[in-house]
Amino acid sequence: MNTYKIASIPGDGIGNEVIPAGIEVLKMLEDGFRLEFEHFDWSSKRYVETGRYIPEGGLEKLKRFDAIFFGAVGAPDVPDHLSLWGLRLPICQGFDQYANVRPSRVLPGITSPLANGKDIDWVIVRENTEGEYSGSGGRVHQGLPEEVATETSVFTRRGVERVHRFAFQLARKRPRKHLTLVTKSNAQRHGMVLWDELFYEVAQDFPDVKTERILVDAMTTRMVLKPAAIDTVVASNLHADILSDLAAALSGSLGIAPTANLNPERKFPSMFEPIHGSAFDITGKGVANPIATFWTGALMLEHLGEVKAAARLMRAIEAVTAKKVFTPDLGGSARTGDVTAAVVAAL
Ligand code: IPM
Ligand code: MG
Repeated sequence: MNTYKIASIPGDGIGNEVIPAGIEVLKMLEDGFRLEFEHFDWSSKRYVETGRYIPEGGLEKLKRFDAIFFGAVGAPDVPDHLSLWGLRLPICQGFDQYANVRPSRVLPGITSPLANGKDIDWVIVRENTEGEYSGSGGRVHQGLPEEVATETSVFTRRGVERVHRFAFQLARKRPRKHLTLVTKSNAQRHGMVLWDELFYEVAQDFPDVKTERILVDAMTTRMVLKPAAIDTVVASNLHADILSDLAAALSGSLGIAPTANLNPERKFPSMFEPIHGSAFDITGKGVANPIATFWTGALMLEHLGEVKAAARLMRAIEAVTAKKVFTPDLGGSARTGDVTAAVVAAL
């Protein structure tokens, strides 16, 4: 029997509510395999107390796991750029999780703000280790009138090529075999032009995948007005960050959207997290939507090779959304525990 070692890092805010719910549901699916969770208290609370999110040697320790089940990071008492660079980015970048996969669909029972929301069946592939999130740049003459800040995007041939290749492989596996390249290569004339060029180089190895290129601003209108024209999407770190929030909102709520931070070569563990963040406005109220975490759990099971269990979990999630057991973000009055109990019952 396969035993998978999973590191759970609930992190901040509602991460501490949805991750336990996710573990409860995942444990129900053990059938022919086991999931062994080990908990890590890496969080803003720990940072405030000790000055570090990840203790010394922490990443080394994390390396030995088969996957990471992550909640959220971000707290009112720590500047956001410190929390992000203290916990999430060192894992994504340190473990070379370069393909960030963000599926969106309107689940049964859920209403999209779009009239034709049923047409949404997208997967956004976000470059996850460089680009606008490279951290390159600096500030000089701080506080003086002549202060200068630079924020340099870094696009490498290797980094761009591999995320394109990943996106083509994913698009090829989907029924419509359609991949949209999103850039801004009219205004950003260096890195984004490299993105375009490498896309068409890689495309030659995938003659069966239909391609399209669109600028990021036009993509926002495409998503709203012609959702059926989109299938798989590949975009840079920042562009895909923004588009995936829009995708989540169009599919009903940020509270349902999952994500997988993948190291496709499996040299390092991959990390699975709901995209909603720590949501301090609702923390402690017991109303966080656990669906994003459950869907994230399904992505994790798929990655571990437990495809049947993943499909079973998705069916249970859909049975519960169809019955409209909804938390407030979806217009209901169910609590995190009610939705969790309903999914457990469906399983
Ligand atoms: C996401 C989030 C993060 C990001 C935040 C929390 C920094 O918005 O995963 O999409 O921008 O990467
Ligand atoms: Mg985001």
